[in-house]
Amino acid sequence: QPARAVDLVEEESGARGGEQRRWEEARLGAASLKFGARDAASQEPKYQLVLEEEETMEFVRATQLRGDEEPSAPPAPTQAQQKESIQAVRRSLPVFPFREELLAAIANHQVLIIEGETGSGKTTQIPQYLFEEGYTRKGMKIACPQPGRVAAMSVAARVAREMGVKLGSEVGYSIRFEDCTSERTVLRYMTDGMLLREFLSEPDLASCSVVMVDEAHERTLHTDILFGLIKDVARFRPEPKVLVASATLDTARFSAFFDDAPIFRIPGRRFPVDIFYTKAPEADCLEACVVSVLQIHVPQPPGDILVFLPGREEIGAACEMLQDRCRRLGSKIRELLVLPIYANLPSDMQARISQPTPPGARKVVVATNIAETSLTIEGIIYVVDPGFCKQKSYNPRTGMESLTVTPCSKASPNQRAGRAGRVAAGKCFRLYTAWAYQHELEETTVPEIHRTSLGNVVLLLKSLGIHDLMHLDFLDPPPYETLLLALEQLYALGALNPLGELTTSGRKRAEPPVDPMLSKMILASEKYGCSEETLTGAAMLSVNNSIFYRPKDKVVHADNARVNFFLPGGDHLVLLNVYTQWAESGYSSQWCYENFVQFRSMRRARDVREQLEGLLERVEVGLSPCQGDYIRVRKAITPGYFSHTARWTRSAYRTVKQQQTVFIHPNSSHFEEQPRWLLYHELVLTTKEFMRQVLEIESIWLLEVAPHYYKAKELEDPHAKKMSKKIGKTREELG
Ligand code: CDP
Ligand code: MG
Repeated sequence: QPARAVDLVEEESGARGGEQRRWEEARLGAASLKFGARDAASQEPKYQLVLEEEETMEFVRATQLRGDEEPSAPPAPTQAQQKESIQAVRRSLPVFPFREELLAAIANHQVLIIEGETGSGKTTQIPQYLFEEGYTRKGMKIACPQPGRVAAMSVAARVAREMGVKLGSEVGYSIRFEDCTSERTVLRYMTDGMLLREFLSEPDLASCSVVMVDEAHERTLHTDILFGLIKDVARFRPEPKVLVASATLDTARFSAFFDDAPIFRIPGRRFPVDIFYTKAPEADCLEACVVSVLQIHVPQPPGDILVFLPGREEIGAACEMLQDRCRRLGSKIRELLVLPIYANLPSDMQARISQPTPPGARKVVVATNIAETSLTIEGIIYVVDPGFCKQKSYNPRTGMESLTVTPCSKASPNQRAGRAGRVAAGKCFRLYTAWAYQHELEETTVPEIHRTSLGNVVLLLKSLGIHDLMHLDFLDPPPYETLLLALEQLYALGALNPLGELTTSGRKRAEPPVDPMLSKMILASEKYGCSEETLTGAAMLSVNNSIFYRPKDKVVHADNARVNFFLPGGDHLVLLNVYTQWAESGYSSQWCYENFVQFRSMRRARDVREQLEGLLERVEVGLSPCQGDYIRVRKAITPGYFSHTARWTRSAYRTVKQQQTVFIHPNSSHFEEQPRWLLYHELVLTTKEFMRQVLEIESIWLLEVAPHYYKAKELEDPHAKKMSKKIGKTREELG
């Protein structure tokens, strides 16, 4: 019934209204169309009617993921089993029978690669075994870097519970802007980025008896850099022991990199998973997810559902849609608990996913990639996989970083399907065709070091005294152009001198855990007499686009509330305004609720602000308020972000240096106007190149702060002929 599907889309966009919604739909639509487009051109998505107004999806069963256990083995865990003592659960994990063998191997080798199916107990058990074995005697510590904040926090919480200690005592975690450890902490989970920073204060990791680089297969930028540094340390010292834990991917490469270190394989234990594909490509991936979930929920036997979506926005939308449909179906269906999980989700919401499902109900967890390997959720029997993930990419030629929704590589669907077979035989529903799986997906994911800018990392390596970056030992060396551009940018920011050596101000800048542009902006604010405001702005920018929320049933109110914060000048000032008003309310949660502002994001911004303030004290930068003179604040942002600029030319914005066409993000306070010169915080490539967080600036400011970067000619305004004279004058004024 193709007509029905079309109606549905139109109804929805009409009812949702607003530029933003239309934009979101366009983006999701474009993302899913790209995937399997070849077939999509000829075939309309198929829908049939069941449950009155719901549509169904047709799947074909194609393959089975081989299991190591018979499908008739234990069924889904019962309540009684869930209540079983935590120690019994520990003993039931696949790694447990290998405890002694593993400890012996660790004792005998300095570097050991540990390979095991996700959920076999590598992350939670091995550090505990080491603790029990005495590796933390004499104040030595075990460090366990993880690829993300969520993984570090949730795993530390789990291990603290297993050990019966308070989180932050013997077991703790450190993530950027949040340190949950104490003097007693010997088992420390942390983000890989945090451990990297710690090389600054302890280049030989002398306080660690063991470093277990976890989820190594994810190949994040920081993990890759850690590899190089740790390999170097291990060459010269017998301590620390180095463990590299990975899912069953890539381990031979890790072994080769660490001078043929032995691989310890923990045999898998998984039930078979039936894999289903759609008959035809789906045009609307969100809709397809929602329909699939209901289709599982209504007829299928108990067991929780895990849905993979690319990011927070998609997850939010899917959760709303699911809740909405469940409400409409009312008592016709059993209870369905809809739980989101993504990186910036507040920790109490995260905790909800590990609580047992009440009897008679079913849980559906809607997650990003973090549930693919680093996070294990109990009781999952069904997996819904639309085949997308959000991926960063980087163009070293233009210096443009973008985050796009792209089809995943084959490694992802295989890991995802595996999540369904942990407690019993499972089912995985792939929302794409078997043909697309075979022909359109890449074999493996490109490591992040090839998809990102390297400014931060280069600054850090330089601070560690590593100068010859081209010859550092990398698992996969970064592209030459990317490295070169990073050096150029750091030079432009004044962090490196012409010889590529760290300057004094560059050294200061490696200190705060924010990127070099942001730290340059913070440090420069002193000169403009507005460091109070700049610090607030920096904190707000760091919490990452999650300030406002927009519940579906109150979009008009929410949008009005947001517009009320608008100030002339740009989004940075809007952020500042939100924070200032919140601070005036006494940091009230009620105020946030009334203004459709996310309280948790604000609380985080406040934390970040306090920490940055502490760091400023360390580098002896004084705090001063701008006394309402927002021009100063706007000017203070330019020393860090002068290269992120765009100019309005007749009908569109173009970046000043690369002449690339870019657009103001629909959420921006400047969405409906076109100031001639804009500075943006970041570029996000979705359906278009969107500038997020834009600030109106004057081109003269650019010449003032970056005369080495811009030629006066590039910044010429047709109606500002006298500019060069003016610049001379302002420079004098500034001294
Ligand atoms: O690291 P690996 O994927 O091998 O497994 P793990 O993360 O150590 O997980 C082992 C077991 O711990 C899982 O099967 C879950 O039962 C449990 N776990 C949990 O309940 N909550 C967490 N946050 C992490 C693990
Ligand atoms: Mg793990």
